[in-house]
Amino acid sequence: MRILDAVRTVSEYLEKAGVDDHLADAEILTYHAASIDRMTAFIDNPEIDNRVYAKIIRMAKRRAGGEPVQYIAGSVEFLGLTIHVGKGVLIPRPETEILVEEAIKTVAAQRIYQPASLPSDILDLCTGSGCIALALAKEFPDAGVIGTDVSPEALRYARRNRAANSIRNVTFRNGSLFGPVKRGETFDLITANPPYIVSREIQDLQREVKDWEPVTALDGGDDGLDFYRQILGAARAYLKPAGALVMELGYGQAGAVSEIAGAEGFSEIQIVNDFAGIGRIIRVTPGFPSPK
Ligand SMILES: C[S@@+](CC[C@H](N)C(=O)[O-])C[C@H]1O[C@@H](n2cnc3c(N)ncnc32)[C@H](O)[C@@H]1O
Repeated sequence: MRILDAVRTVSEYLEKAGVDDHLADAEILTYHAASIDRMTAFIDNPEIDNRVYAKIIRMAKRRAGGEPVQYIAGSVEFLGLTIHVGKGVLIPRPETEILVEEAIKTVAAQRIYQPASLPSDILDLCTGSGCIALALAKEFPDAGVIGTDVSPEALRYARRNRAANSIRNVTFRNGSLFGPVKRGETFDLITANPPYIVSREIQDLQREVKDWEPVTALDGGDDGLDFYRQILGAARAYLKPAGALVMELGYGQAGAVSEIAGAEGFSEIQIVNDFAGIGRIIRVTPGFPSPK
């Protein structure tokens, strides 16, 4: 069988199983199983042997059962990094690349006012696969980056991803939010993509998400805002005076999270939209303490 015939067969099988992106997923799984890139498949359309075809069928069955294609392939690309994923860790989303881009702009702007070029201290809360922490560490090799997460399973992926991408300036620590931060440690930048789904809406998500991705990575409490309240309530003590906090937001949360930030005394509250025009990123600075 030639590889493009295998793609067509798998695509038809996945379509019958109700998979929306059946052609794209068939291509990802088939090329992954055959260790071939898309361009070569199209140009050469090589024969595949029975062993590879059996592997493709096994993967297609997993996908038909609802498992996310990224878990089956085992990795995704995130801003040029290879991020390994599997059950127990959230799959990085394209919106999160916007968070990293905003975080990079924030650090770059801080460095204009720090001519001594002190290496930046960066904290990534809710680090999961480590995608944000690792992308920032790669961009700023002189920075010291710490990633924290409550899930030991997620941190196993984060550490594996650090090794896979040969990044040395990140440490990962296990614990809840600021819990693993040592007394006296403060940061130029704190980033977070916290769980932000309203608890009762988790059941309405796509089956790939609700049945496969860890609920601890999704559940933001009764109104989806629990983590924003906790992070904004505590962050000031961990930010340097010219520091900034940059977080990803769920759909429709920009107004409510801006209000929480304002009530906690943060200033320069900025919202950045995603590709769909939805307020997706919030950036705040500690500003001056309000007069008593
Ligand atoms: C939405 S995921 C984000 C993962 C990753 N940063 C990304 O952008 O793909 C949220 C992460 O928060 C972690 N988490 C949940 N509760 C936490 C807590 N109390 N303290 C620290 N991390 C927590 C989950 O384990 C999960 O890895």
